[in-house]
Amino acid sequence: MPTNQFDVVIVGAGGAGLMAALYASRTARTAVLSKLYPVRSHTGTAQGGVGAALGNEEEDRAEWHTYDTVKGSDYLGDQDAIEFMCSEAIPTVYELEHMGLPFSRTPEGKIAQRPFGGHTNNETGKPVRRACYAADRTGHMILQTLYQQCIKNQVDFYDEYQVIDLIIEDGITRGVIAADIATGELHTIHAKAVILATGGYGRVWEITSNAHSYTADGVALTMRHGIPAEDMEFFQFHPTGIYKLGILITEGVRGEGGVLLNNEGERFMERYAPSVKDLASRDVVSRAMYLEMRDGNGINGKRFLNLDVRPETVNKYAKLDGRTNTDGSPYTVTGEQILAKLPDIIDFCKTYLDVDPLRQPMPVQPTAHYAMGGIPTNVRGEVLLDKKGTVLPGLYAAGEIACVSVHGANRLGTNSLLDIVVFGRECGNRAAEYANQNTFAPLPRNAADPARRQLDILLNGPGDEKVDVIRRDMQKVMFDHVGVFRTEEGMQQALDTVRELKQRFARIRVGDQGKIFNTDLFEAWELGCLLDTAEVTAAAALKRKESRGAHAREDFPKRDDKNWLKHSLVYLTPDGLRIDYKPVSITKYQPKARVY
Ligand code: FUM
Repeated sequence: MPTNQFDVVIVGAGGAGLMAALYASRTARTAVLSKLYPVRSHTGTAQGGVGAALGNEEEDRAEWHTYDTVKGSDYLGDQDAIEFMCSEAIPTVYELEHMGLPFSRTPEGKIAQRPFGGHTNNETGKPVRRACYAADRTGHMILQTLYQQCIKNQVDFYDEYQVIDLIIEDGITRGVIAADIATGELHTIHAKAVILATGGYGRVWEITSNAHSYTADGVALTMRHGIPAEDMEFFQFHPTGIYKLGILITEGVRGEGGVLLNNEGERFMERYAPSVKDLASRDVVSRAMYLEMRDGNGINGKRFLNLDVRPETVNKYAKLDGRTNTDGSPYTVTGEQILAKLPDIIDFCKTYLDVDPLRQPMPVQPTAHYAMGGIPTNVRGEVLLDKKGTVLPGLYAAGEIACVSVHGANRLGTNSLLDIVVFGRECGNRAAEYANQNTFAPLPRNAADPARRQLDILLNGPGDEKVDVIRRDMQKVMFDHVGVFRTEEGMQQALDTVRELKQRFARIRVGDQGKIFNTDLFEAWELGCLLDTAEVTAAAALKRKESRGAHAREDFPKRDDKNWLKHSLVYLTPDGLRIDYKPVSITKYQPKARVY
């Protein structure tokens, strides 16, 4: 079996993986392994901006960004990590600019910034322009820029390799086992340090903004090696996915003045968040949308609402809000300006819906979007084994799959792109440092056997269960019962169903028995990861008897700091799940009620 050696191997080629690769490759031999071509990674779908208090358009401060992020997290984010991220945001965005990232510009040529949900001027409480953007293609531009830099730095890329297992023995990370999707052949990548940057797991839910590749690979791999998963009950629903399809319509639409309207044509967010209205944090807006639809205020009684960015609508509400440009003149927009700032979403709506957002409102509904939880790490990206913070030597995680935790119970828009670049860099630096201080730990004999067994069972199993049927049933029950609003009975039903589906999964058999591009096989393997993750998510949610951020329980509608201001840690053990908790790091900001 082919074996290659690298100081640092990174699994995943999105923004976090590429930023880690860029930094690790400065001092260590580095490879990136991805199940996709790197520039097709999910970071490319991030639209509206990367958060940094540059103050290019109006006064802003890193401390305000920190406070907004703590408040947005419903006080579950670790405040030391949040402060670090928000202060690093400013030099990191300038670094991206110097790498050549084509940001949109102000008339003076500075990086342009737009308002986003939950980001405010802490003195006035009004939305602040903090999201640094490249039209509505910010993630795409970050991905392209970092990939070019990695090529320049001679990072080795293994494109279309599916990681199947981690090699960890005697508490030391030694590499990964991956399958070449083109040939089906297993490869051992022997490494001193492994960085997991595999992204999230929105494919657990029926309606999601996430790519098909977002199948929980990283968190499932680590849980199977005894590493806990942190805060898995917190999964964010973005308010504006295209109705039924889930495809993201950026919050940048509302940043540019677009508004959400119900069947009566009412701008209902005025009732739910009188100060910032449509620019409240995502958990608040998604819940408001659900309540409107439940009360029969969906458009024509259906499960969607209108997002309206037609210039006449934007100008009407900007006038009512007294919104101004940075020079104090009244804020107005033309169709041409909207098109220049939001070209992709206009294109998506025309392509998928035959709707032109410059002339018609867009039908939207909340869509499963982002995992706040994941593999526990510290700010240097080191993976943590327990509530004491014990580090697992040689293993790192960054990006959506990691839980640092800077997002707590609810992430603010633009903080994911920020998270991937700041912590991708930290992780790359730390992994290279570790690799340079250590020799290669020997590979265990037959290191690939567990991975080979996993694939053999899927190929040659006795049963006749089908991947697509099990996946659809999981996605439906998770969307219905572990979504925007939750109840004890619903979550219990979801957990029971997922457990039954896991039993059926053991009787799965894939149709394609070949070796070449056997995507049936890898989809089946991914489904196993999704099921493990769905179980952990439902179990952690069921256990948390309060409402906080994205975890909104109808039976426990209040936040309960006395009992629940703590992170969950779920362990997958041979005897079932074990749940533990660890404290939140609180430095400057004592928890208080959130008002938007
Ligand atoms: O709405 C958006 O553009 C999404 C951004 C994000 O998730 O941060």
